[in-house]
Amino acid sequence: MSGTDYIRHKIMIVSGKGGVGKTTVAVNLALALVENGQNVGLLDADITGPNIPKMLKIEDEILSGDGERLVPVYMPIGCDHGISVMSMAFMIERDAAIPWHSPTRLGVLRQFVDEVQWGLLDYLIIDLPPGTGDEPLSIATMMEVDGAIIVTTPQEVALLDARKAINMAKDAGIPVIGVIENMSGFVCPRCGNQVNLFGEGGGKRVADEMGVPFLGSIPIDPMIVKSGDDGIPFVATPHSSTVRSFEEIVERVYDAVHAQEM
Ligand SMILES: Nc1ncnc2c1ncn2[C@@H]1O[C@H](COP(=O)(O)OP(=O)(O)OP(=O)(O)O)[C@@H](O)[C@H]1O
Ligand SMILES: [Mg+2]
Repeated sequence: MSGTDYIRHKIMIVSGKGGVGKTTVAVNLALALVENGQNVGLLDADITGPNIPKMLKIEDEILSGDGERLVPVYMPIGCDHGISVMSMAFMIERDAAIPWHSPTRLGVLRQFVDEVQWGLLDYLIIDLPPGTGDEPLSIATMMEVDGAIIVTTPQEVALLDARKAINMAKDAGIPVIGVIENMSGFVCPRCGNQVNLFGEGGGKRVADEMGVPFLGSIPIDPMIVKSGDDGIPFVATPHSSTVRSFEEIVERVYDAVHAQEM
């Protein structure tokens, strides 16, 4: 059973600007959905900068296949569910650079879509490289996606790029599931005061201006940095206001995707 025909929902994680938290959102959204009883796949479409295996601590796994099809790395979560992951990181030495031009990258993506034995999945979460270049548009032509989630920080330069990402999706006929504002205010663990390092409320403002849903915001939290580096998604860490904020976002994503089914 190759290809993505047996996947019910496909969600792209997109941003205009780099480093705003796409991979963090992708990994934690995937785990939150698994914890809600869904079978989930994670496609690391960032061919030259694949980070998902590191963020799930499965970077030493080796791909298997039957000569024709590639089998994703399966990360069990509990007894019945898990995450199936496909990433370029499983195919290269850890620190190797991948100096590939777009046609080669898109060729690999095509293989990840067509030749991988994804099987029956409720969700495929697709983590894209930054920008509005070839990858997001190509993914949208390779398979029918439910829509794109746009991740931005509240910083003006990121918002500028987020607008472009929304316009790219609209022009290409890709539904926008909504905007997530990441790295919103930092709450000082000592005094409790909030410092808005990258500004305030920009994600919601852009969503409102462009007529797309706002899914919520995630604060800057040192726990997110540590959990990413340790390979333990933060939704699996003890409950905190950050985890609660993210769970609310997941509920909105779930509702938006299922509303499209009606
Ligand atoms: N809310 C947050 N609070 C603190 N650190 C964060 C937060 N979100 C992400 N980070 C950290 O910021 C860094 C960049 O995040 P991430 O890799 O998810 O961004 P990205 O958009 O996928 O980057 P790229 O464009 O390079 O693919 C990571 O080290 C991550 O742990
Ligand atoms: Mg990334």
